[in-house]
Amino acid sequence: MLNFNQNVEDIQISGIRTFMREIHKIDDLIQLTIGQPDFDTPTPVKNAAIDAINNNQTSYTDNAGKLDLRNAVSSYLKEKYSLIYNPNSEIIITNGATGAIDISLRAILSEGDEVILPAPIYPGYEPVITLCKAKAVHIDTSTTNFKYTREQLEKCITEKTKCIIFPFPSNPTGATMNKDEYETILPLLEKNNIWLLCDEIYSELTYMNEHFSLANFPSLKNKTIVINGLSKSHSMTGWRVGFLMGSESFISQALKVQQYSTTCISSISQAAALAAVTTSKDDSKIMLEEYRKRKDYVYSRLTKVGFDVVNPNGAFYFFIDHRKYNANSYDFAIQLANNAKVGVIPGSVFSNYGDGFFRLSYAYSMDTLKKALDRIENYINLQ
Ligand SMILES: Cc1ncc(COP(=O)(O)O)c(C=O)c1O
Repeated sequence: MLNFNQNVEDIQISGIRTFMREIHKIDDLIQLTIGQPDFDTPTPVKNAAIDAINNNQTSYTDNAGKLDLRNAVSSYLKEKYSLIYNPNSEIIITNGATGAIDISLRAILSEGDEVILPAPIYPGYEPVITLCKAKAVHIDTSTTNFKYTREQLEKCITEKTKCIIFPFPSNPTGATMNKDEYETILPLLEKNNIWLLCDEIYSELTYMNEHFSLANFPSLKNKTIVINGLSKSHSMTGWRVGFLMGSESFISQALKVQQYSTTCISSISQAAALAAVTTSKDDSKIMLEEYRKRKDYVYSRLTKVGFDVVNPNGAFYFFIDHRKYNANSYDFAIQLANNAKVGVIPGSVFSNYGDGFFRLSYAYSMDTLKKALDRIENYINLQ
């Protein structure tokens, strides 16, 4: 029998997809499962793509993406987050944030390296780490408001640590780290020669303070890799546009991986992206206000039901402790789907440290949220 790469055999399809497939046939189910904005892509963005097709902008582009787009992304990042990146040598347009995660980790990891991640964690990093024959080291943040502390990091950093992942605002927890919190770990990060990979795909969706990136600290800039994109900010998950930023030396290595895995992203999506970061650069603010209303509504309903829940500061998820009703998150989520007819994602999908929690996405209309929360309330009242 022909066999396969053992590392590929060792990884699994994301538990989010697997669980959604498992429950999708349940009759009359209301899904609060998907991490995908429910808005239409802004009209100027769609029109830019249509124009690109009609104007035959249908050829390969630079591997790093079209220069006019990289120029515009550079201005967008400067205006929004005071991040300075040279469009000629420090930015790659990638196949979604997923593409940026993949090429970054493959550019820096060798066999035996360790990568530190805060758990519970989005399941998009560990399989890539495994494919690189490196090792994921999870830090349990379930008792530290889902953020790193200096003590935790100090304990986990070894001579094998190659990279620390900073996925803030976080999927699944909605937690973010602000400047003051980063300052508590700054000396440690300065002292150690370790890559800092910041997945900031939810940066436009922060509710209390402005988004702050680790790359804003000049002393960290060279070892920080920043990932962003348009999937969440502009409701463009299907267009597959991500941004990867880093030092010139890092980008020159990552570009080789991009070249041999994707060549470049779709020229049509690049035309759309140019409109998104220029004409439509602030459209995310309209969506943010709608998410804020939903977040406040869901928070008040969940606390009324009796859940212990952290009010999240970013993204569009609640990560909810259900241990007083049922300790096992798979059992809890499957029973909620079968009996209350509400679909959520079991916390264990986001590592073992997520067990005892469930993720609820509020990227759904108020009407859907209200119906789902009525059902959850009735179900919990019967426990
Ligand atoms: C934290 C995080 N990073 C990356 C991604 C992937 O984004 P993209 O669709 O741009 O590949 C997601 C999608 O849910 C995410 O939650």
